Amino acid sequence: MSLRMSRRDLLLAGAAMPVLLSVVPARGEAQRIETLLDRMTLEEKAGQLTLVNDPFRWRPGNVNPDAFDPGQQAVAQEIREGRIGALFNGIGAAQARYAQHLAVQESRLGIPLLLAADVIHGLRTIFPVPLAETASWDPDLAARTARAAATEAGASGIHQTYAPMVDIARDQRWGRVVEGAGEDVLLGRLFAAARVRGFQGDELRDASSLVATPKHFAAYGAAEGGLDYAGAELSERALREVYLPPFRAAFDAGACSVMCGFNTVNGIPATADPWLLQQVLRREWGFRGYVVSDYTADAELVSHGFAEDARDAVRLAFLAGVDMSMNSRLYQRYLPELVAEGVVPMARLDDAVRRVLRVKEALGLFDDPWRGMDSEREARVVRAPAHVALARDAARRSVVLLRNEGGLLPLRPDLRLALIGPFGADADNVLGPWSIFGEREHAVTLEAGIRAAIADPDRLTVVPGSGIESDLPGGIDAAVAAAGAADVVLLAVGESQWMSAEGHSRTEIDLPPPQAALVEAVMQAGRPVVVLLKTGRALALTGSVAEADAIMVTWFLGQEEGNAVADLLFGSAAPSGRLPVSFPLRTGQQPFYYARLSTGRPAQAADQAYTAHYRNLPDGALYPFGHGLTYGSVRYEPPRLTAERLMAGGRLTATARLVNDGARDADEVAQLYLRDRAARVVQPRRLLKAFSHVTVPAGGAVEVSFDLGVGELAYLGPDMQPTADPGWFDLWIAPNAESGVAAAFRLD
Ligand code: BGC
Repeated sequence: MSLRMSRRDLLLAGAAMPVLLSVVPARGEAQRIETLLDRMTLEEKAGQLTLVNDPFRWRPGNVNPDAFDPGQQAVAQEIREGRIGALFNGIGAAQARYAQHLAVQESRLGIPLLLAADVIHGLRTIFPVPLAETASWDPDLAARTARAAATEAGASGIHQTYAPMVDIARDQRWGRVVEGAGEDVLLGRLFAAARVRGFQGDELRDASSLVATPKHFAAYGAAEGGLDYAGAELSERALREVYLPPFRAAFDAGACSVMCGFNTVNGIPATADPWLLQQVLRREWGFRGYVVSDYTADAELVSHGFAEDARDAVRLAFLAGVDMSMNSRLYQRYLPELVAEGVVPMARLDDAVRRVLRVKEALGLFDDPWRGMDSEREARVVRAPAHVALARDAARRSVVLLRNEGGLLPLRPDLRLALIGPFGADADNVLGPWSIFGEREHAVTLEAGIRAAIADPDRLTVVPGSGIESDLPGGIDAAVAAAGAADVVLLAVGESQWMSAEGHSRTEIDLPPPQAALVEAVMQAGRPVVVLLKTGRALALTGSVAEADAIMVTWFLGQEEGNAVADLLFGSAAPSGRLPVSFPLRTGQQPFYYARLSTGRPAQAADQAYTAHYRNLPDGALYPFGHGLTYGSVRYEPPRLTAERLMAGGRLTATARLVNDGARDADEVAQLYLRDRAARVVQPRRLLKAFSHVTVPAGGAVEVSFDLGVGELAYLGPDMQPTADPGWFDLWIAPNAESGVAAAFRLD
């Protein structure tokens, strides 16, 4: 037996509902689009679907593989001929006006260009990488940083961002974990929606708003073996329950574009998958925006072994539903002939062009093609003091304190400190791998931030000790000497930003050996050690680094990194971040995430045979999902439920008292997890259903309550429809996914 679910319940469960259509134009505007369509040649239509690298504006190198780039003159001529409709990854208001002028004043139909960019975590003011920011467990913070990024980008002549990246990532070997919201579906949904709201704002016509482009549709994060660009083999259930919901949340928040993934999903490239791009996206979800390919992904259908040649690749991608082609120039080249020969219906071409023009219309480009292109405004908003202050606040709230033995932190500012490790004075690994328009000179290093915060700047010694992945001659000896002369050692170790990034998967997610050797040697000095851990993914910490007195995950915190870390080290701010990814015991546990399905033989004692554990490891994480310490000391008292039985259509409330026995207030993130004891499809051992930020005063207590209805109990039944089964549920109110206080209730 199962329960029928009301519309409200379905909403709560994140199931089907009509999408908000923010790209549906008003009557007059729709007419303008139709009139244009009537006048366009096949070449001009294909041009609207052609997106190429911006050759006119400042564009950093090294973002994507080289592709055919004919230079400014040639691209200018193509724009005049209406053969290019969109440019990407250039910034600067003044030059944007030039490019726009070519389209609006020198092309036959005067259709404005769409200017896009990878504005992932800031444009010029760089905020924490998305994974780090998700550790704030504060979607509103993500909305605010996205808004600030959109304000800067809008003033720099950009209309669209290729963000948010909403790929769930459960294998930390995958390098692109750093760009998303981590392993959990609820966090994934909430951050996807918040980032879309932040980028798009209330009004797309506003020059501070960007079209959001959730990516990479779909299941790109499920790459086999964590190898970037590898295929995803997964059930439709996993796809629908885990990988699709963040996209759905992004569209529900109004996202009017989407980028498809490089990967295959069960053998079909996402760039040519009609099931994903038509059945799910359009028919089930009613999405009205446009689909853009990833970088040259249409051309790559040939190397996938899916298309015979480039022309065939265009046919397959376009007929499957990819409206715009990124940088391969293949749509420009082949679509006109494919339509002329009747291989591709004209109606399909018109649909795609209509979708792109609608987005241009929604941005107000037909009325004001110069929207936002104002150098004075650009100078005013770029790195505005309020954005820099937000970057510092966001960075503080992104740090996760994993360990703080004996309350070593916060530190007194008058201690002699040794800052040891390759990242202490380093400015190259502060901004993060997708901060393409950020500049190194604005990156506050750990050294700079700490020196500015201590009483006597000369009491800080800085020694690299080793390279990131190489030894440094004499480095360890110098580091050990510095450690011996200090009261406290700060060890800045971890990954470089190019160890977790696109195309940078790792087989071992640990400290590179030269740094591991450095840590071993420095720990021998016997001084208290605080590890400041750089990373863009969960790491497997083994050996001495895991035994340091304190460990702070500092990710890539963006330009204010050094200041933010110093604020936390010396206690002018307190840590409140929580892990959005599980830190495993060993790499070999990957894929590793807390919401694993229950097994018939759960692990028991570490050495008990014939149960689900690796023979050399206890079951579980080194630091579980959701974990993060504060400078307080909070314990959870057993929860009370308003009822032990939940009737269909009813609600119940679970409340726990949180007591802070510490001497400092604690910003606690109380988490609600559920487990369905018996369902018609095996369910996760625990699943996050809600969380709440509460400040628990030093020596005081607060109550935290969660309200539950049948919507929170739903899963996709055997027929793939949301359902909830009567029976018993376990509930935890918890500081992380592996602990907490428990209760049980029954759904009748
Ligand atoms: C990435 C996308 C990105 C695009 C444009 C691709 O390599 O996968 O996430 O938006 O390049 O830079």
